[in-house]
Amino acid sequence: MTGLHRLLPTVALVLTQCILPTIAVPLTAGEDTQTFLTDTSASSPYHPEQDADTIHTENAEAQRAPSWFTSTLMARRLLALSTTGVASTIFPQDPPENARTPPEVAGQSISLKEYISDCDAALPADISEGGNGDPTFLALHVATTFRNTAAGSNISLSLDWWDHLNDTEPLFPGFPLSPAGLPRVTLFGHIEEFPAPLSRETESALQACYLDAHPDARVWLPGRPHSPHASFWARMVVTQVYWIGGFGGFQQIGWMNVSEWKGVRREASLPGIGDGRGWADVRLPGEKD
Ligand SMILES: *[C@@H]1O[C@H](CO)[C@@H](O)[C@H](O)[C@H]1NC(C)=O
Ligand SMILES: *[C@@H]1O[C@H](CO)[C@@H](O)[C@H](O)[C@H]1NC(C)=O
Ligand SMILES: *[C@@H]1O[C@H](CO)[C@@H](O)[C@H](O)[C@H]1NC(C)=O
Repeated sequence: MTGLHRLLPTVALVLTQCILPTIAVPLTAGEDTQTFLTDTSASSPYHPEQDADTIHTENAEAQRAPSWFTSTLMARRLLALSTTGVASTIFPQDPPENARTPPEVAGQSISLKEYISDCDAALPADISEGGNGDPTFLALHVATTFRNTAAGSNISLSLDWWDHLNDTEPLFPGFPLSPAGLPRVTLFGHIEEFPAPLSRETESALQACYLDAHPDARVWLPGRPHSPHASFWARMVVTQVYWIGGFGGFQQIGWMNVSEWKGVRREASLPGIGDGRGWADVRLPGEKD
């Protein structure tokens, strides 16, 4: 609630700029639309004098951000429904001799869209983490993302819900549809190759899950004859999660509790995690029931 109090004046600003350009609203010096995206997980002082400037919609309930646990369920659902993400890795400081990358990019990050699938829950018990939100990759040795991780880089993976803008409703009547108000999440961690040789059971579970999302990837399955590129199965071990649910005050923005991220399952959460709901119990903006 404290974040809400701090950020509603900014909502008033944005609304004023978008909808009511002729009506001046007193604002705190230095505030701009950027503060719309600030971290609401930090506690902030209550400013009653600023609250006098806030807009008051009919439905105050609608302005209340979902709890952090509900947001974590939304984030796990976003992962479960995503088939691609943007992976960021760092070029090594000392690139191998045969790396045809300019020396200037050493130590810089590169962000590349990659195929992913949330396959962990579909794997046999001996290799699964139980469906803990570690994304699965069919990685190509030749791909820059996986060359960098092989050279020791960590990885971050960004997912978003922006393609669903046209299914969503405006924040208020008269407010424009806004991708900036839709969820995105960045996972931080490292790549771990599945230990070879994989059991036949594991291999077929990985294929069934991954090819369901990416039928074309059958062409570069590991060990495939005539495959254009050598590949391997890998998981991203998630160690941190940064969430931007949408506009501050209406959604949570900040670092998630990773134990909660890992403890969520499709139908339920593990004992001691959240309130027992699973990611199947929430919907992302614009999703039909
Ligand atoms: C990767 O991240 C871990 C923290 O999870 C950190 O300890 C390690 O130094 C990082 N590795 C590199 C190469 O940056
Ligand atoms: C969303 O709707 C607008 C207006 O009808 C259209 O121009 C745009 O292409 C649509 N975007 C998507 C992703 O479908
Ligand atoms: C994260 O969630 C777990 C499980 O609900 C809880 O025990 C732990 O205290 C939380 N950690 C923080 C830093 O809030």
